Amino acid sequence: MKIIVLGTGYVGLVHAAVCSEYGHEVYAYDSDLDKIKAFSTGQAEKIEKYVNEPGLANIIRETLGRYLFFSTELESIIEGADAVFMCLPTPPNLDGSTNLTFYDAAAQHIAELSARRKDKRRVVFINKSTVPIGTGRHLQNIMKAQDVANFGVASNPEFLAEGSAVLQARRPDRVVVGADEEQDFNILRRVYSQFVHHVRIKYIETTPETAEAIKYVANTMLLTYISFWNGVGAKIGEKLPNIKIDDLRLGVTADERISTWGSFVSNGAGGSCFGKDIASLIYQLRSVNVSTKMLEASYEVNEYQKVYLIDRAITEAGFKFNNKTIAVLGLAFKKHTNDMRDSSSIKVIESLLGKGVSKIQAYDPLANETARDVFDPSKNILFEKIHYYDSAKEAIKGSDAIFISTDWEEFRGISRTIEELVKPPYLIMDGRRMIPDYEDLVKKEYTYLAVGSMVMTPEKN
Ligand code: UDX
Repeated sequence: MKIIVLGTGYVGLVHAAVCSEYGHEVYAYDSDLDKIKAFSTGQAEKIEKYVNEPGLANIIRETLGRYLFFSTELESIIEGADAVFMCLPTPPNLDGSTNLTFYDAAAQHIAELSARRKDKRRVVFINKSTVPIGTGRHLQNIMKAQDVANFGVASNPEFLAEGSAVLQARRPDRVVVGADEEQDFNILRRVYSQFVHHVRIKYIETTPETAEAIKYVANTMLLTYISFWNGVGAKIGEKLPNIKIDDLRLGVTADERISTWGSFVSNGAGGSCFGKDIASLIYQLRSVNVSTKMLEASYEVNEYQKVYLIDRAITEAGFKFNNKTIAVLGLAFKKHTNDMRDSSSIKVIESLLGKGVSKIQAYDPLANETARDVFDPSKNILFEKIHYYDSAKEAIKGSDAIFISTDWEEFRGISRTIEELVKPPYLIMDGRRMIPDYEDLVKKEYTYLAVGSMVMTPEKN
């Protein structure tokens, strides 16, 4: 099949690569020439500057020029296309609604070009990145307004999690396709032919609106589950005596109806999807007069959770941040990525700066470069107080306290490094419960404050 992928962000690039691996002829389009040039080299270091996903650069290198093509010229590739996947950025507006500016511009552009196609074969325009419920219908109207002939619209939401996107795309748990017409379902069945009758993959066909809703309900459910653990499980461990949060988790998730994923308490969930999608669903439901209390609670618990440990450090450990040097370990929103979108570390660092710390010594195995952009001192002079280091060791040296914000495996052994480099009184704020031998540290007079447990101070121990 001839497939066009419109937009080569995270969703688009992974989708284009994996579709080329299925053996389709894939043209990935983006208006950003630098990106297209980088992807067209097939070189890992150039591709990973934009999308750093295990296995992705390999697929691109192997299929480039045979099944996979990159272009900034939509007009030259639209002819003969069977399917056009819309993978455009849909950032949030301040009121939580979804900003469709990029989406609409791209849709308008492809509509105008499609109206001039010489071939009159069926083409389906498919929403792949997350768009508000009803956007399929909106896309249909854009196409109709341009008199595009013989087209259909469909929704085929993306459920990939960063870090395992290629694995998941090769073997998804489900493929959801929403369309109105049998001929459009048929085109999507050909795109995903190896999954349609797969015994372990659910291939779900439904209306476009239901497919769009599935994505929002899935993501808000996942975030609500994390918020449940952070807002209820963690609080039980922090406020009631003699609770072991890890045992609580094991006991509860032994019930096979209750997921282990999401039960790891943390200083909040970040990433490009959860916050944006829940805000958008709240907006969409409010506009049809549905009470959104539950979603609001889930969102608020998650946002406050990001900085809650800092408040606890003041109230429970009596720590004074003013003029202190704080080591922040982990900047990415989760391990195995350099992505900092909506990362808890952003709120952590902003909160620390707001509390008057004199210096932040930051380290992340992959995200230091991303952080330099996020905390650009030209946006806020306070960001000059952030210094970046190439190892956890260097970041810890000379600090008065540490905040662990990302669950990188290498932070599990950090207690030795702490003991070696900094002497008590010293505060350890563990947003990811990465220090299993914390009791040893407390015996040696360090103060340990973790999400899900009461503060452990030398005198309290
Ligand atoms: C998520 C969804 O999982 C995916 O299906 C959707 O398509 C996009 O959003 P992703 O953003 O890659 O994927 O991250 P995910 O692995 O779900 O983690 C989100 C956040 O939750 C991270 O900050 C992670 O560290 C945190 N998390 C996850 C917890 O705090 N506790 C957990 O037990 C699990």
